Amino acid sequence: MFKKEIAEGIYAALMGRMSKDEIMSKLEVPADSSFGEFSFPTFTLAGMLKKSPKIIAEELSKDIKLDIISEVKAVNGFLNFYINRNDAAEIILSEIEKNAPEDFYNTSGQTIVIDYSSPNIAKPFSMGHLRATILGDSLARILKKTGADVIGINHLGDWGTQFGKLITAYKKWGSEEKVSKNPIKELFELYQKFHVEAESTPELEDEARQAFSLLEQGNDVQMKLWNWFREVSIESFEVLYKRLGIDFDYIQGESFYNDKLSDVNQLLERKKLIEFDQGAYIVRLNKLPPALIKKRDGASLYITRDIAAMLHRVKHFQADQILYVVGQEQSVHFNQLSQISDILNISTDIEHVPFGLILKNGRKMSTRKGSVILLDDIIRDVEHHALNIIAEKNPDLKNKENIASHITDAAVKFMDLKHDRMNSYEFNIEDMLRFDGETGVYVMYTNSRIQSILRKTDRKIEGTVFKFDENMWPVLNQLSKYHAAVKEAAEKRMPSEICKYVIKLCREFNSYYAKERIIHSNNDISKLYMLKMVSNNIEEAMSLLGIKTVNEM
Ligand code: ARG
Repeated sequence: MFKKEIAEGIYAALMGRMSKDEIMSKLEVPADSSFGEFSFPTFTLAGMLKKSPKIIAEELSKDIKLDIISEVKAVNGFLNFYINRNDAAEIILSEIEKNAPEDFYNTSGQTIVIDYSSPNIAKPFSMGHLRATILGDSLARILKKTGADVIGINHLGDWGTQFGKLITAYKKWGSEEKVSKNPIKELFELYQKFHVEAESTPELEDEARQAFSLLEQGNDVQMKLWNWFREVSIESFEVLYKRLGIDFDYIQGESFYNDKLSDVNQLLERKKLIEFDQGAYIVRLNKLPPALIKKRDGASLYITRDIAAMLHRVKHFQADQILYVVGQEQSVHFNQLSQISDILNISTDIEHVPFGLILKNGRKMSTRKGSVILLDDIIRDVEHHALNIIAEKNPDLKNKENIASHITDAAVKFMDLKHDRMNSYEFNIEDMLRFDGETGVYVMYTNSRIQSILRKTDRKIEGTVFKFDENMWPVLNQLSKYHAAVKEAAEKRMPSEICKYVIKLCREFNSYYAKERIIHSNNDISKLYMLKMVSNNIEEAMSLLGIKTVNEM
């Protein structure tokens, strides 16, 4: 909160000899708070000013005067800034409730399309899709908070050769009754049976290709089956989305672009980018494998539909940026797409937001044997554990099931989001449900403790004069870093920045609370006021992760 102000002060004292941006990037937060709240190294100025860093720091320390700073100390070439905590406290508490100024964020006013979740019909809803769903949802919330106009799209895999296989399998072995009763399970089993049978009867592959070709031509029989498979699958995805509190602005799957594919082909042809090579239409790229646009039989491909989607998003939504929250194994695909956008002179940023794997015992965790159903099972398993923990810790709690479901949500999402998204992590139910440590449960529990303190008092908190005391500082100092954490999370596409922030806030609060008596103490109203602000802030930070807190647990 005060960094910019301090940077301005240094800038003025240096009389323009270093840019504001550079000063901002050099201003750091010392690990040991006895060196102040901010510290600025003067070493790079030595050459230009022809003085030793020690002298430069000493001279500058006398030139910098700022209201919010109580003291500037020069120590071995560093300038250490000590904030006037008394004044800062009130500013922090009043600013934390407001939005950061618009010009604080680079994303403000931008239109950003986020393509996330995007599972495939008839194929498994993988742990990768779960991660894409959680990460995409959180990024959408964070970017919205920074003032961007966010459009969330589920690019459902509802078209492609797998439908040829599915239709063929259904015609051979399927039963309408069974599929109606248990669509996801049946469709998935049919899809698997196709692969097993095709091992010994390769002609099945030809049949499937033919079926897909008919589907692409809009044949009635194929279309009807496709439509049915699609609807029942979406219905069961929605159950999961609802359970996780996930919403999209649009479900525009791959099939949405069917009537826009000929435009893609024409555009590429007009620009002379497309060539016929070894039985397929391709676009040659620089330092990347060529993009396969059309097969000999006219069948469209994944990237063709992504080009169509990109053009649509650029034109229809006037997107400044399109983010694709998809596992890192698709990085070649998105590099191809991005290069094609450059060749086509599209100014919209095409950005792949990749992520690592979810592991079980060190190996990629798989839902292969049960599609979306297995994911439901996994979530139910976590919920079962959560319920046991609550029953043990707080047997009298009302509404245990409901609270266990919120805790599960928090545990699974926080576990995912707290990691640098490029890192893989172990799916460990015990770990994610720990009441201490870096978990969503710890954060929720801290918040419920604050709520219970607030419930115990009938003192009127609002509208009183806030009185700072020194013990409050670590908590307030952490609150002052909230907007910066949101900005960092938005710019780096890293919700983990918010997880780290909120964990530290809870740590600072818990050590404050261990030392302090709140109710019936001196200054109790100011303390309660600060607690309320901490709780509000925890709730808001968690909402940016897509997590709802509870007041009691
Ligand atoms: N359905 C794809 C898959 O599961 C992911 C789609 C990602 N979005 C996109 N525009 N390609 O692999």
